[in-house]
Amino acid sequence: MKINKKKKIINKKHILSAIKIYKSPFWMYDYKKIKEKIFQLKKFDIIRFAQKSCSNIHILKIMKKYGTKIDAVSLGEIERALKAGFKGNCNDIVYTSDIIENETLKKVIKYNIPVNIGSIDMIKKIGKKSKNHKIWLRINPRFGDGHNKKTNTGGKNSKHGIWNIKKAINLIKKYNLKLIGLHMHIGSGANYFHLKKVCNSMIKQAILINKKINFISAGGGLTIPYKIHEKEINIKNYFKIWNKSKKIIEKKLKCSIKLEIEPGRFLVAESGILISQIQSIKKVKNRIFVLVNVGFNDLIRPVLYGSYHYISILPIDNRKINYSNTINVIIGGPLCESGDIFTQKENSKIYTITLPIIKRGDYIIFHDVGAYGASMSSNYNSRPLIPEILFKDNNFIQIRRKQTIKEMLSLEI
Ligand code: LLP
Repeated sequence: MKINKKKKIINKKHILSAIKIYKSPFWMYDYKKIKEKIFQLKKFDIIRFAQKSCSNIHILKIMKKYGTKIDAVSLGEIERALKAGFKGNCNDIVYTSDIIENETLKKVIKYNIPVNIGSIDMIKKIGKKSKNHKIWLRINPRFGDGHNKKTNTGGKNSKHGIWNIKKAINLIKKYNLKLIGLHMHIGSGANYFHLKKVCNSMIKQAILINKKINFISAGGGLTIPYKIHEKEINIKNYFKIWNKSKKIIEKKLKCSIKLEIEPGRFLVAESGILISQIQSIKKVKNRIFVLVNVGFNDLIRPVLYGSYHYISILPIDNRKINYSNTINVIIGGPLCESGDIFTQKENSKIYTITLPIIKRGDYIIFHDVGAYGASMSSNYNSRPLIPEILFKDNNFIQIRRKQTIKEMLSLEI
């Protein structure tokens, strides 16, 4: 089990240097990889980064620098976007949700931020307070897909998006809201076959609505190869089919339209690694548990969805690793909860992975954690948030320091 070349974004020497400065654990992102991923999508008229995947302000600044716009799904995410330099009164930020709380409503009105509407109640709430507000309609295309049923956002089991489009259009008219775009997002980590089907739904709905609009959005959902044998998505082909759909809609509605894409995972997942250290190697009957200093409070994806993350090791003492001498181990964290296991499937079944002979103090590295890694962390078991480090031009930049226990407790004191 070598560190596979494909997965090696930041080399061993650099990781060890970073460990010297920041100890472990910490998240580390590769600037170059993020930039490379943005440029892969440049054919789309607008790339709108779904910041929920990695909401660090410094990552948002990279997005801004390379021309990406931003999606915000909460008041906190709007504030983050503003802090990173995205502006109100323009198309920089779009607020997407199925509800809008009073404080958020005040903010989107003050900064004139377009709202991507996911419920009839939202139309009424915005309509009563902000005449002519620019809105998008997030349409539930009546089917969805995702890498897990928790990330499927279409069909009748999903709380997301507008189902009754006729009613929505009537209310938009009643409240004089300005419909500027149509949006469909069927789920995260969606299968390519389903993603492609969204084009036809978009064409159908646009023609049915029959109003001049400025934008259509393909949503996010694009996956990345988490496993070594998995292939990358064919972006050229994906763009081609969406661009064709855009042209059909432009012709039918007799207006010019910009094509947006709204990825999170695709832009940042591969840029991120999580560096942890082995604290204990425990034998339990015929099993070997390797316990590291990160838990599901840091990286929740394996526990929540059974998600797979490639794992590699880095010896603490520079010893040469013998890859023919291996053991089968279960990787777990420090939390006082037996489900705190990184090697588990969607049905919570634990599996083993094969590693070379390891010892306490060696480093365990989780790969492709740039998306929904740090942004989904919590303080469970009262463990502070760990640092985030950006690797740029052979330098390390600490873009989030470690939270202190004092800070963690301060809200209660
Ligand atoms: N647009 C909307 C409206 C979304 O709800 C999402 C994700 C995205 C775009 C970006 O999706 P992406 O391109 O990243 O697949 N925590 C889960 C993923 C939940 C995604 C929620 N919405 C995970 O760790 O896999």
